[in-house]
Amino acid sequence: MRFLLLLFSTLLLIHAENSYESGKALYMQKSCYSCHGSKAEGMHMYPSLANRAKGYLAYKLKRFRDKISDNQQQDMMIAFAVGLSDKDIEDLTTYLYEYADEENEQRYDDSYHTHGDGGS
Ligand code: HEC
Repeated sequence: MRFLLLLFSTLLLIHAENSYESGKALYMQKSCYSCHGSKAEGMHMYPSLANRAKGYLAYKLKRFRDKISDNQQQDMMIAFAVGLSDKDIEDLTTYLYEYADEENEQRYDDSYHTHGDGGS
């Protein structure tokens, strides 16, 4: 029984890992990064997607896929969502929800603060 549990949780972990990696690849392939940023940080009118609630992201992507948008700005998303399968959405939202900035992790420094308006 314990072995089965261990096996099951290992499989779950592997699944989560693969889903993150596939989501990351899709995010690049489907050019999501060109609007939402290569770190899913968002820019201008394009919302940040990193570490947002997975359920919400999936809900929005499925609505866009069904060609439903709440305003004219969101219409833009429909073209990028129509081709997504349920698995694509699962992988993309896993990646976005669990997003971790690998490159900057090492350099992170608590004592550093930016001042001013960030150059806008
Ligand atoms: C051409 C630019 C563009 C591309 C490419 C694009 N998006 Fe978007 N995305 C938008 C805009 C614009 C909105 C709507 C912003 C708003 O609600 O005002 C949006 C909204 C979203 C939302 C809802 C966010 C929220 O806060 O409601 C999600 C999730 C999302 N995009 C995911 C993706 C994914 C995944 C991809 C790649 C498959 C992608 N987008 C590609 C422009 C883009």
